[in-house]
Amino acid sequence: MTYLPPHAFEKFSAHYPEQPHILDHNLCDHPLMALEQLAQLIERLPADEVEYAYAKQPIGITGKPPVPSISAADAVRQIDTAGCWVAIKHLEQDPAYRALLLDVIAELEGAITPKTGAIHNPQGFVFVTSPNGVTPYHFDPEHNILMQIRGSKVMTQFPADSEDHAPSSVHEAYHTGGPRELVWHDGLLAQGSEYEIHAGQGLMVPVMAPHFVKNGPEVSVSLSITWRSEWSYNEAAAHAFNSVLRGAGLNPARPGRWPQQNTGKALGWRVMKKLGLR
Ligand SMILES: [Fe+2]
Repeated sequence: MTYLPPHAFEKFSAHYPEQPHILDHNLCDHPLMALEQLAQLIERLPADEVEYAYAKQPIGITGKPPVPSISAADAVRQIDTAGCWVAIKHLEQDPAYRALLLDVIAELEGAITPKTGAIHNPQGFVFVTSPNGVTPYHFDPEHNILMQIRGSKVMTQFPADSEDHAPSSVHEAYHTGGPRELVWHDGLLAQGSEYEIHAGQGLMVPVMAPHFVKNGPEVSVSLSITWRSEWSYNEAAAHAFNSVLRGAGLNPARPGRWPQQNTGKALGWRVMKKLGLR
């Protein structure tokens, strides 16, 4: 069984890691993606690996939204009427889901490692969403392919290197242990690109490219396949090193996006950590 047809691999290979693109997949009918299986997964995982909320949220949000009155597992079972958004995090803790995650990543490995180095920390997330739900504006530190399993969604992505959309100050705070909440205002929308995906399609999201998501008029189930890479660790460490430089009164250049490597600043940060200076 392959989860990605040959043309999907070729497309991914041509676009990874910086160009968002939509590729086909064969994951929709996988038994582990059925709602009842996902509800049972929620009941097996530690409670803090499940996040859920009412589905109707503004695009920009600060702080945590209120918790719904039913359990997360029941919200998944009744997702067509629950009006909820459920995120199941770190699927890789469960052996069956971990095997699926690693199988998909193994199919992509030949396109990943020549560009961004060794694959690290594979993680999987499932998002189960009632019709018309919104996932607010944010960014993620992982390479990510959002596989649409059921229903549809529109992701609006923004450039990963945009100071307006994800200021260096937010990167530097996040990569030194702070929060990663981006501030939204409608003026940011002009640089967004919309990608609509349906069941059987996946969307690649470049590392740290800000985005928000609007679900279609049906129940939506998405599987997010993520990994870190040598390149992404170096970029993160370079942001962290920049925070040190900024603290010393300098105004450092933003780390470069791939294929720039950021190895000098990344090394600087690692040396500081090793010496206990951070
Ligand atoms: Fe995301």
